[in-house]
Amino acid sequence: MIIVLNNKSNLSKDEFLDYQEQLKDISSIHNLVLCPTLLNINLFNLNNFNLGAQNVSCYDDGQYTGEVSARDLYDSNVRYTIVGHSERRKYQKETNEEINKKIKKLIENDIKPILCIGETKEERDSNKVEEVIKTEILEATKNIAKEDVEKIIIAYEPIWSIGTGVIPTIEEIDNVNNMIKSILPRNIILYGGSANEKNVDILNESSTIAGFLLGGLSLKPEEFKIFIEKLKSVN
Ligand code: PGA
Repeated sequence: MIIVLNNKSNLSKDEFLDYQEQLKDISSIHNLVLCPTLLNINLFNLNNFNLGAQNVSCYDDGQYTGEVSARDLYDSNVRYTIVGHSERRKYQKETNEEINKKIKKLIENDIKPILCIGETKEERDSNKVEEVIKTEILEATKNIAKEDVEKIIIAYEPIWSIGTGVIPTIEEIDNVNNMIKSILPRNIILYGGSANEKNVDILNESSTIAGFLLGGLSLKPEEFKIFIEKLKSVN
């Protein structure tokens, strides 16, 4: 499985250095990826994790104030990058078109995109899950070669589950993941949204989840260790 820790906008420099000390003794058969804040990326020094970023510019290096290019992320040893997180879609008004450009830049620079998709509660209640997921996938992968599309890691994150403590049923997750597989049969699919050491036993019952994107739990090393220990070894 791939387990991605998304620190979001958390952990000052000193806090991050202390945090890394708490993560360094974790050993796992799973592929662990840590996505710190941009400023903490160059402080990363863990051998048991791969390094990820939470965002990337849709442009190359140049006159783009405040942006960080995929080339520069790669240069700082970033090998995975989250794109299209619902918080960026909401607060930065990130569109599927921009997400598509970002994915292209990441692939050109040998960084694996982790594409977040998922529906709001209103969309679920009005039976629009399939429509939302299909649109997000098709627009994000537009004009990208099939072999490159297969490199994208999909993170199914129902927006109503992020940070709320509420998770969908396994049937609901597997239904969406199977629908994703009908469009992208070869892509890895992660689940994200309130996954933790208490509900991992339930999540282990899914036949379609190949890893997790963890927000809140990423900030709790002790609970994260329990989560990793309880996680089933294969999917
Ligand atoms: P959460 O966040 O684990 O705190 O729900 C997940 C995410 O936003 O990726």
